[in-house]
Amino acid sequence: MLEWKTVVFRILFLLVLFSFGFGCQWKNPDYESIAITITNEAKTNLVQKLNSKIAEGGTKQAIPFCKLNAIGFTNGLGQKNGVTLRRITNKPRNQSNLLSANEEKIFLEIEKLKTPEGVFPNKSITSDDSVTVYIPIPVMGFCLQCHGNLNEIQKTTKQILDQEYPNDKAIGYKVGELRGLFSVQFPK
Ligand code: HEC
Repeated sequence: MLEWKTVVFRILFLLVLFSFGFGCQWKNPDYESIAITITNEAKTNLVQKLNSKIAEGGTKQAIPFCKLNAIGFTNGLGQKNGVTLRRITNKPRNQSNLLSANEEKIFLEIEKLKTPEGVFPNKSITSDDSVTVYIPIPVMGFCLQCHGNLNEIQKTTKQILDQEYPNDKAIGYKVGELRGLFSVQFPK
């Protein structure tokens, strides 16, 4: 038989635990959900812009457009939301998107954790002054015309890529592979 004092003590303990738990949830924003909302907007916008440029003048127009606008667009969207938003990768087209040694570890970890259904997980890292959420960017069929194998990239597209990005590493991908990560850094 439990003594009544022990029972009361346990109930009090649970109450404290719960209120603490809810209190913490209330104080900490749900960084991952916010990051997903921001990166969904980024993905939709980038693909829409790319599609309309391809429709206007093919990859010949879309590639220089990306070169001029992609980084500015992600930077701007980040600023608007009070975060630092970047696209990072181990095989960059634009050298400014190359990941750091630390980020590469995270990239490889996310790549390794791909589920049997082909989904890569998100990952959050907390430091003293920031929380960074990493959101995977997988390769889809649409991407191959600019990021696939040489037989999937048209000759004219390849010529423009070579001209605009002489050190391009971002080709040879297959559907379902990890192309890169969005890094969404929140100040704490
Ligand atoms: C019309 C050609 C084209 C298509 C289609 C395309 N990309 Fe790109 N991609 C580019 C160019 C050009 C850049 C470099 C942009 C820059 O200079 O900032 C780039 C850069 C990137 C980057 C940033 C990292 C890096 O290598 O610099 C990621 C991530 C990326 N693309 C993913 C994708 C995904 C995913 C798709 C399909 C949904 C896709 N791209 C479709 C042309 C394309």
